[in-house]
Amino acid sequence: MKLPALLSLLILMLQEAGTQPYGEGDSYAILHLGDYVLSLDNYEEVIDPSNYDELTDYGDQLPQVKGTSLASLTRTRFTQSTEAARTLPSNPTTARPPTLGLLAAPANHGLPTCLICVCLGSSVYCDDADLENIPPLPQTTAYLYARFNRISHIRAGDFKGLTKLKRIDLSGNSISAIDDKALRLLPALRDLILPENQLVALPALPTSIEVLDVRMNRLQSSGIQPEAFRALEKLQFLYLADNLLDAIPRPLPLSLRSLHLQNNMIETMQRDAFCDAEEHRYTRRQLEDIRLDGNPINLSLFPSAYFCLPRLPTGRFV
Ligand SMILES: *[C@@H]1O[C@H](CO)[C@@H](O)[C@H](O)[C@H]1NC(C)=O
Repeated sequence: MKLPALLSLLILMLQEAGTQPYGEGDSYAILHLGDYVLSLDNYEEVIDPSNYDELTDYGDQLPQVKGTSLASLTRTRFTQSTEAARTLPSNPTTARPPTLGLLAAPANHGLPTCLICVCLGSSVYCDDADLENIPPLPQTTAYLYARFNRISHIRAGDFKGLTKLKRIDLSGNSISAIDDKALRLLPALRDLILPENQLVALPALPTSIEVLDVRMNRLQSSGIQPEAFRALEKLQFLYLADNLLDAIPRPLPLSLRSLHLQNNMIETMQRDAFCDAEEHRYTRRQLEDIRLDGNPINLSLFPSAYFCLPRLPTGRFV
């Protein structure tokens, strides 16, 4: 192991030793990183990235996505593994910090990133790691979690060549700018999760995108390109709540199922915001979840805007 790598490892181990007292007789030390708790004996189970495919808990926002949140999943496993560890005969001479085992595992990919973050299969977990930039990522990365860091800018080259990247979750950073080339060329990107940042504008997006979550930013309507969503024919969930938008973006792709615009500054809408005014027989069955509550708009003023929808938007009808 090279010296810098060894040093970061030592720092990591010292931090863990300082914050995490291990139980007496536990020959299995445990690596903590943010919410994740990993130990040698659950390593094999959690390495399967398919386990993480749909784990994010959107609560009522994404009702069709079922599954435990990652935190509760690891919590369960933590309990199980502690139990397993207790039943093992304690033998201090063979005890060694499993952080070593974990980091020396094949998923290390040889990148320093995997010493600061946890690289498991095709997932990279960098939550709460004080990052100011996107770290260099293994070519095989499909899922990136870098929540609650201090990243302020996504640069054009940050995800370059990551053709397998499916999900980017950068919730709770301070991102105010994303270079236009940073995401547009990612062929596999499905989920772009950016709530609680400082964005005033949306970057160009790849056509593979299915979920775009930009809640709780500072998005203005001028920061959304005209027809920004037209070509996104796979987009199903568009979460733009708690921003500064004063218009409903148009046109919306037919694939859209949820449009969340609550708590913005929308006062009015076009007659064809949702429905094609020329085609009265047409219904838009997919789009059944439109939220406009928390906007200064009287939805009763636009009776001809909803005829194609399976359900009226939520909001003020007065
Ligand atoms: C909302 O619009 C409806 C329909 O035109 C109207 O009757 C109602 O008075 C309006 N309410 C407010 C608070 O402006």
